[in-house]
Formats: sequence, C-alpha cells, structure tokens
Amino acid sequence: MDSERIYIFDTTLRDGEQSPGISLNAFEKVEIAEQLARLGVDVIEAGFPVSSPGDFEGVRKIADSVSGVTVCALARAIENDVRTAWDAIKGAERPRIHTFISTSDVHLEHQLRKSREEVLEIARRMVALAVSLCEDVEFSAMDATRSDPEFLATVLQAAVDEGAATINIPDTVGYAIPREFGIFVADQFQRAPGLRDVTVSVHCHNDLGLAVANSLAAVEAGATQVECAVNGLGERAGNASLEEMVMILETRHATLGKVTGIETTEIDRTSRLVSQLTGYEVQPNKAVVGKNAFAHESGIHQDGVLKERTTYEIMNARSIGRSQSDIVLGKHSGRHALKTAMEELGFSLNEAELNQAFENFKKIADKKKQITAVDLEHLVSEELRELTDIYELKSYEVTSSSEFTPTSQVIIEKEGEQLVGKSFSGGSMEAIFKAIDDAVGAKGKLLDYQVRAVTAGKDALGEVRVVVEVEGEGYAGTALSIDVVEASAKAYMRAMNNAYRAGVVMNGSKK
Ligand code: KIV
Ligand code: ZN
Repeated sequence: MDSERIYIFDTTLRDGEQSPGISLNAFEKVEIAEQLARLGVDVIEAGFPVSSPGDFEGVRKIADSVSGVTVCALARAIENDVRTAWDAIKGAERPRIHTFISTSDVHLEHQLRKSREEVLEIARRMVALAVSLCEDVEFSAMDATRSDPEFLATVLQAAVDEGAATINIPDTVGYAIPREFGIFVADQFQRAPGLRDVTVSVHCHNDLGLAVANSLAAVEAGATQVECAVNGLGERAGNASLEEMVMILETRHATLGKVTGIETTEIDRTSRLVSQLTGYEVQPNKAVVGKNAFAHESGIHQDGVLKERTTYEIMNARSIGRSQSDIVLGKHSGRHALKTAMEELGFSLNEAELNQAFENFKKIADKKKQITAVDLEHLVSEELRELTDIYELKSYEVTSSSEFTPTSQVIIEKEGEQLVGKSFSGGSMEAIFKAIDDAVGAKGKLLDYQVRAVTAGKDALGEVRVVVEVEGEGYAGTALSIDVVEASAKAYMRAMNNAYRAGVVMNGSKK
C-alpha cells in the first residue's frame, strides 16, 4: 500500500499562544519556530499580525529568519488584516496567508451580525485579495462543525474558486465526535467537489478531549492536513496535540497508511522547549511526552519490559528523542568537550555564544557535580536569550531574617551604564523585584511566579518563570540558576527586558 502524506500545520505560536498567561517575546517565538523547523513541520502558523505590534514583529522575525518551512500568518476576512498579514510574512521563503470567517448561524447572528449572502461575498472577496498578494492562501470556515452543511459547502467551494490552495474545516468549539466528524468531512467532499483539488485541513479543539480523535477521523475521511499544537496548547482546552497525532500515524502506520514529514526524534526536545518558554508544564501522564509516558511502575510490567521491551511498550522512547543521553560533563570538562556535547545536542554555537556558554557552564559546574544533556539544553537557550537582553543584572544582594524587614540592592548594566536600585520591603523576593523596579525606573506587578527543578537531585538547576504586569501589559520571563533567588531575579529582569523591547519607557530609554 502506498502511504499518503499528511501535512502537519503547527499553530503553537498562534492558537497555542492564545492560552491564558502565555506571553512570548519575538526572540522566544523565533527560538520555538527554529525548533519546529528542525522537527519538520510543514507549516508554522507564526501569529496573528494585526492583533498587536508585538505579534506583527514576532511573525515578521520568523518569516525573515526561519527557512525550509512555510510560514503562515492569520487574518480575519477583513482587508486590513489580510494586508497586515502579508506585510508581516512577505519576507518568508514560503509565505502563506490564512484568512477566516465564521459560517455557523450562531456566529452570523450574534457575533458577525451578517447574513449568509454577506458572509459568502466577504469570503470570496478576501480570498481573492489574499491570492492577489500571496501565492499560497488558506481559508478557514470558523465554527464549521456547527454550520449548515450546504451553506458551508457553498462557502468552501467559493474559496476554492477564488484560488485558496488549502481549505480548513475547524471544530472551533470542540463539539464534534469522531464518527460524526469523519462523516461530516466526507460529506463536504461530496457537496463541494473543488475540495478534491486542494489540501483539506482540519483544526480541532479539545473541549471534550476529542481533538486528536476527531483529527484522526477526518484524516481517515480524506483530510490531508492536520492543524495541531505542541503539548496540545491552544485556546481553552487547547488544540489537537502535535506529538499525539504524529505518533498515532507513526505507530499505527500499517493500519492507517499515512506518513508525515516529522523527525520524531525531535519531539521530546520540542515539547520541553515549548513547556519551558510558555511556562505550561506537561502533565506527568500526558501521552507521548509526559514524564511517565515510558515509565513502568508495576513489578509485572517492569519484569516484562526487562525481558522484552515490546511486552508493555508500543513506542520506543528513543523514537521521540528521549534516550538516556550519554552526555555528562563536570567541572573538569573543557571548551572542546562542551562544544562537542553541544553539537551532539544539535546546537551550533558561534564563537561568542560558545564563550558565553562556557563561562556559564563553569559557574554551574563549580556547584553542580554532573551536568547532563537536559541541563545543557536549558543552559544554551538561557544564554541565547541573555545575549538579546538590554538590561543585565550584574549583582544582587538581599538580606532577610525573621526579625527585620528584608532589604535588597541590585546593580544593573545597560549599554555600559550602571543603574543601582534599592528597596526595603515585605518578603525577600519582593525586595529584589522592587530593587529591580527602582533601578530600571518602571513599576512591575507580579502576576505569576513558578519554580521547578530542571533535573533531579539537591543540586538540580532551578527554573523560575514570572509574568509581570508593566503599564497594563503582561510580560513573561524565565531564567535558570542553581540558586532560586538568582533565577527569580534574572527571570524578573528578563520580563523587564521584554517590556522594554515592547516600548515601555524605562531608565536609559532612548528619548
Ligand atoms: O478555532 C478556530 O476556528 C481557529 C480558526 C482561526 C482557524 O482558530
Ligand atoms: Zn482554533
């Protein structure tokens, strides 16, 4: 049997980024996009450019710098959205405009306040406009699964007639159930024959926990593109999980006969990077990428796996890139060992990056006996982000006791200028955060604060993630250190750097 190619459209940076509390800066988005390209997704939906200047900038940076993959931008079926999306992605090697309008009566009546005829006309005009700007256009009929099938087919056929190369049938509210959704998609092929000449895509939400099952049913009914997000991120309960969808097609290939272009050994690393940068932890028992996905607790299972792995494992942990890497470095390891380990992990660092990474590696190796592959991965992404920061935390001091109010002093450097900040306040973390506010001349309000250990052991690296509100906007920051106080200060500092990059005026801002 010939295998049919299924295209993986990743929306981690668009629908995924709509998850509450996620606020990635442009550099973090590029870092994720680069990893998605390494993972081998076919399309990266990089954002919704008209929604904010930050989103526009993130999409533009990805379009300009990430190659080997289609970079897509979302646009409502509104002229300004479509033109703005094009402006953001026109530098991409393979740009795609993704425009959408709702087709269900409930959306038409209560949200759009438009008739079916008006929606059909808008869909036609906006697809035509997008096609006049960009060769590759995708059209989505929002809330398709609750739309009248005949009207939906009329709109989809019109979008094909206007030149859309991909037609997406979203289950926007996660209402579908697998058998019914498979029949629904098959029926659209009958009603709108033009669908046979284009890529038919599905975009399923997980409100009833069926996003992946529904996507699979659609694939069996003829869809050839699946929209999904790493770790199942996305609006509300999220989107279909990329790793689950891909590993179903991979593991059950003999039955399903479908292939993707995904390099599955990059799955685990992609999941960890997305979790680290978004602050959304993966539940331990999550299929494919959960910490326990390959752990065997019961004696009977352990016995079986030791005798023959396939007794209780349908996938090999190595197939998603979760191998016990042999990389273990220590304080005696030199630059060459670090460089070789980095290359083994897939990072090619330039001279400046390697120098910086080595300096930090030495600081950590002084305190931590063994530095593993996971530690190194975190260290590098930390380094790369630090290189783009404008404000750098040079030193901090905090005194805290049960008797006195904590005090803190920080020294921050900005382009060679030293900024000193002091505070005298509530708890010791609060004292440091306020001292940073004092130094940079901005007022931050801590909205979220999370600490987790990156690896096991008392000397594990601690990762802190904060979300800080500055002038009404939330900015996220993550940082890593063997000392949680230092990681907290650096994470807060990073959030402030993100606020500065977004245009908040601070000490040392250009007038
Ligand atoms: O859920 C949805 O319908 C969407 C569209 C914009 C494709 O996210
Ligand atoms: Zn969606």
